[in-house]
Amino acid sequence: MPDDTTRDFSRTLVTSALPYANGHIHLGHIAGAYLPADIYVRYQRLRGTKVLYVGGSDEYGVPITLTALKEGVTPQDVIDRYHTANADAFARLGISYDIYGRTSWDLHADTTQQFFRMLDAGGHIHQQEMELWYSPQLERFLPDRYVKGSCPRCGYTEANGDECESCGAQYTAKELVSPRSNVPGDDSSPVLRPSKHWFLNLPDFTERLKTWLDSHPEWRANVKGIAYGWVNDLRPRCITRDTDWGVPIPVDGDEAKAKRIYVWFDAPIGYVTNTRQWGMDTQGDAKAWELWWKDAGTRMLHFIGKDNVPFHAVIFPAMLMGQGGYNLADHVVGNEYLNIFNRRTGQSEKGSKSKGNMISVRWALDNFSVNAIRYYLCAIAPESKDADFDWDDFMNRYNGELCDVVGNFAHRSLTMTVKNFDGRVPEPGEIEAGDAAMLNAIGEQAEAIAEAMEGFRFRQAIERFIDLGRKANVYFDAMQPWVTRKTDLARTATTLYVCCQVVRGLCVLMAPFMPEGAAKLAGILNVTLPQGGPDGGSDAWKLLVEPLAAGAPLNTPEVLFPKLDKDVLAELAEVHLRGEAY
Ligand code: 2FM
Ligand code: ZN
Repeated sequence: MPDDTTRDFSRTLVTSALPYANGHIHLGHIAGAYLPADIYVRYQRLRGTKVLYVGGSDEYGVPITLTALKEGVTPQDVIDRYHTANADAFARLGISYDIYGRTSWDLHADTTQQFFRMLDAGGHIHQQEMELWYSPQLERFLPDRYVKGSCPRCGYTEANGDECESCGAQYTAKELVSPRSNVPGDDSSPVLRPSKHWFLNLPDFTERLKTWLDSHPEWRANVKGIAYGWVNDLRPRCITRDTDWGVPIPVDGDEAKAKRIYVWFDAPIGYVTNTRQWGMDTQGDAKAWELWWKDAGTRMLHFIGKDNVPFHAVIFPAMLMGQGGYNLADHVVGNEYLNIFNRRTGQSEKGSKSKGNMISVRWALDNFSVNAIRYYLCAIAPESKDADFDWDDFMNRYNGELCDVVGNFAHRSLTMTVKNFDGRVPEPGEIEAGDAAMLNAIGEQAEAIAEAMEGFRFRQAIERFIDLGRKANVYFDAMQPWVTRKTDLARTATTLYVCCQVVRGLCVLMAPFMPEGAAKLAGILNVTLPQGGPDGGSDAWKLLVEPLAAGAPLNTPEVLFPKLDKDVLAELAEVHLRGEAY
């Protein structure tokens, strides 16, 4: 089988899951889909790769209309509120989208309808009658979460009309046991009524999906396991719903008018829509998107949480196959879950709205630095198994690693340099073996980090970054510039010259993980970090071998990573335990 990792790509399209505009994004979302994607994108930009990062809000679907009903507002009010809040939270966290779009845009209805028509024309869509729950009181069907009942597989009593959140089972509506309406004020008992819907014939794509999945032995086992599980048992899938909130079905007649396209059909198409919009906004070119979706030189990567794997590794690829001419994903980077360690019970818990244990990004950013949040979430990234957010661990790792190792090294190197060498990078004397080893370690660690990044192992990448800080502290302690300063200024100059080079290396290598810290450090060093972007640029990793010039001026050093205070942290952990960290 061909291995796509060896293909030579000239540009990379990165997407991360479009979060529902139905609540505040929380740290679980960030660890699962957004931070890894952002780290990867920032890394590729630094390498000079042409990279486009597309995101946005997922604004249709039953959860949104239910929220609106419960709050007595319109669905538009709900999505406007959360789209704005989430776009703001992402920006504050430094998630560097090239576009953050909306599936409620008219352009998105156009893209989605084109997809539907193309699949229909290819014979992949058919109509079928189903038995669905109907409310006699409301005189409407009760799609998905509008009806609750007991799961036909595990008996969970809060199961939805189409799936059980407890055991993960998916079933047809009529299998739901003891159904009841989930609409406030609706006291009638749901009854089954026939309704005709449109189905995507997924089995048409079974062989092509298998061949494509087989060509990606490099994907994570969790993603492949879920994808093969689906592909080996594909069935036609209903892609419309009885609702007025969604993309209209592009079919004439009254039957289509009362229904809309299902949110999970239109949501991934949002990536295409948002690329279209980006092309128009930045280049005034309505066709610019095609290069990113159809050119063989473009590599496509989806970053998602594991619950989204079937849609990105099976259903959306089938929809793309049905269009013709589109690229398929080269990697689907699926992450496990970030759970919450409850310090009162000593147990790890799933994050859930009803438990009130979720930590929203906006709350976290009101209380902690963006550097601390990004550092910890990357250091514990749930890549191959679930991870726990644990307050003590958060403090220990951030204080003990980022602050004590990297922050401390940068600070003591720069303050000593500025103080003893007139605010300039010193002129080095003879470079001895220990100095050379330290200088070489910059490039070696850069290589090691790059290797981990290319393999989507971000935990390992950030560990290797910290390792460079550890090596640097060992060097600093061995060279004792605070002692040689009084006895051998030439030696001190060489030591601090080397330290300045390491600080510069740390600054570049830090940029994908902690862009805010890197920008501050770059300001002190008077260096410019390449911005990169869809047009590409220079390779900052390669530039690491070019040293900071002796005599180059430095600005007054500042503490990059202030330590977390134990008492403040304990208080905030209490706020979280009270369910007020959202
Ligand atoms: O799970 C979710 O939050 C979905 N809104 C993700 C959609 S991803 C993509 F398909 F848009
Ligand atoms: Zn169940």
